[in-house]
Amino acid sequence: MLKLHELNKRKERSEPLTMITAYDYYTSKLVQQAEIDMILVGDSLGMVVKGEKDTLGVTLDEIIYHTKIVRKGADDTFIIADLPFMTFHTSVEQSKINAARLIVEGAANAVKLEGGSPSRLEMIRGIVDCEIPVVGHLGLTPQSIHKLGGYKVQAKQPDQANQLIKEAKAIEEAGAIMLVLEAVPEQLARQVTEELNIVTIGIGAGRFTDGQVMVFHDLFNLSDIRPKFAKCYIDVADIIREGLKSYKEEVESRKFPDIEHVYFPLTDTE
Ligand code: KIV
Repeated sequence: MLKLHELNKRKERSEPLTMITAYDYYTSKLVQQAEIDMILVGDSLGMVVKGEKDTLGVTLDEIIYHTKIVRKGADDTFIIADLPFMTFHTSVEQSKINAARLIVEGAANAVKLEGGSPSRLEMIRGIVDCEIPVVGHLGLTPQSIHKLGGYKVQAKQPDQANQLIKEAKAIEEAGAIMLVLEAVPEQLARQVTEELNIVTIGIGAGRFTDGQVMVFHDLFNLSDIRPKFAKCYIDVADIIREGLKSYKEEVESRKFPDIEHVYFPLTDTE
């Protein structure tokens, strides 16, 4: 399993880190077999698992449930679990307790939370003070979807870019171990990566972050909307559709089950 102290060495050596989301046992097993460095049990599960239009309805109990089963499939992979909307907003105490539940009940190695406002920084400091590794998340933060007015590239204007850099540095100072940068211009992501000592992980943030994270479903055409930055590596949806059609045809034509798939098959004379 990736160790925390290796993160910065990987940055120093310019060896890109890999992260992918996973939400269930078998997928996480495949991710571990592929030797991906880190798994994110993201609140994107609201959209790709629950079929909702945003991530806002995901609960802490749901993330704990999915983190637990992801851990069963990936016992030797570094797992980060998302703190969902409104689980780290009202008090430092609430944030500490909820982060601890992801670690203790979900068996995650770290928690991720969105935003870099002064109150978010207070929550990060509080969680770090409980010896829980924290991952920050700036740029397009899906839990702020109503404020942002849609899923679009963030911090395009110089003042917004400067504000993001300020927040990124403050997140590092608050004790975060890593920072996810989502949907920001490549130049900004590069500057943040150069100016921070901690590792940056990009999603739609271009080529120069210290690592990349993708939503599993986007890699395999298993999601309704695929953003520009998401590359589909294999059209698994198409393969599954074909498999299902064949199954249906074979059942309907009594081709399946064939003798090979029957326990104690009857002989022709019986
Ligand atoms: O929830 C999630 O999957 C995420 C990634 C998009 C970074 O936060």
